[in-house]
Amino acid sequence: MEEDVELVLNAKLMLEKSYSPYSHFRVGAAIRTKEGEIFTGTNIENASSGLSMCAERVALFKAVSEGHKSFTDLAIASSSQMPTFPCGACRQVLYEFSPEIKIHLKGKENEIFQLSDLFPHPFKKDSIDV
Ligand code: THU
Repeated sequence: MEEDVELVLNAKLMLEKSYSPYSHFRVGAAIRTKEGEIFTGTNIENASSGLSMCAERVALFKAVSEGHKSFTDLAIASSSQMPTFPCGACRQVLYEFSPEIKIHLKGKENEIFQLSDLFPHPFKKDSIDV
């Protein structure tokens, strides 16, 4: 799978925007639309911790709310030296729009995964059997 240097750089730049006064764990994300446009996000925490929002969903929701519904790549950076994988909730939400999206993780060496490998048994439209 091909590296997306520009997307990873955009994710890294978002670390400085992180609002994480509780965990002090900074996360930055950048998502590429199928037309090639980039939308970015960072994690946004809240005193009521269940209301905190992941960087990945902020980036995705910004793009969807601007009319984009199909994505090729997502990059994730964090304040950890280790690669940060998207949480289960983000995997489910990403699946809704782009089951085959590639996920670029910043680490000592960047790694690339396919969402379909990280999230093999999604809950999807066909699962709603009424
Ligand atoms: N976080 C993300 O932004 N993305 C992830 O994939 C994992 C966790 C954030 C949420 C919270 O602000 C902080 O990391 C610690 O959980």
